[in-house]
Amino acid sequence: MEPKRHVYLIGMPGSGKSTVGRALASLLSLDFIDTDARIVALTGVSIRTIFEIEGEEGFRERESRVLEACSRDPMAVIATGGGAVLRERNRRLMRDTGRVIYLRATVDQLAQRTARDKSRPLLQNGGQRARLHELLEQRSHLYDAIADLVMDSSARSAKALAAEIAKSLQTASNTVTRLRNR
Ligand code: S3P
Repeated sequence: MEPKRHVYLIGMPGSGKSTVGRALASLLSLDFIDTDARIVALTGVSIRTIFEIEGEEGFRERESRVLEACSRDPMAVIATGGGAVLRERNRRLMRDTGRVIYLRATVDQLAQRTARDKSRPLLQNGGQRARLHELLEQRSHLYDAIADLVMDSSARSAKALAAEIAKSLQTASNTVTRLRNR
């Protein structure tokens, strides 16, 4: 792998970023960071509480600050929140400091995986499937635009997916090294 390049996982809530990210970090012997978990650790309250008190805008500001801080950490696999791609500043930071992997899943799959979830404020208040559909419509072009690699997360286990991503990263990095040594 190229030195000092993070691996960012992006995608919708329920696409498996944290599970796949943890497996990938272990395969690559890298640290694993979950930006949501870091926000919770820093504030001492849940994401839901942050949304209640500060609104989505307040949460997005915290998310950007944490992402920036993570980008200065030693090389790691970084699972981001589903809305991290909304801000241009976050998209640029991820592109500039790492390789970006988009875990793509269908609305059905996402709905299944988040059905009983109470921790994601944007998916509460019923109509979850419609909400996921709407969010995916708003975001899919942003995920696609910054992804170095798009992985279909639907039909595979997290472990299999992580192994495939590790292989692709390795191949990409060998190509870069070969080109540089020419
Ligand atoms: C959000 C996704 C969540 C979390 C917050 C907002 C979003 O992360 O950051 O609830 O806007 O899609 P996950 O993608 O890990 O669920």
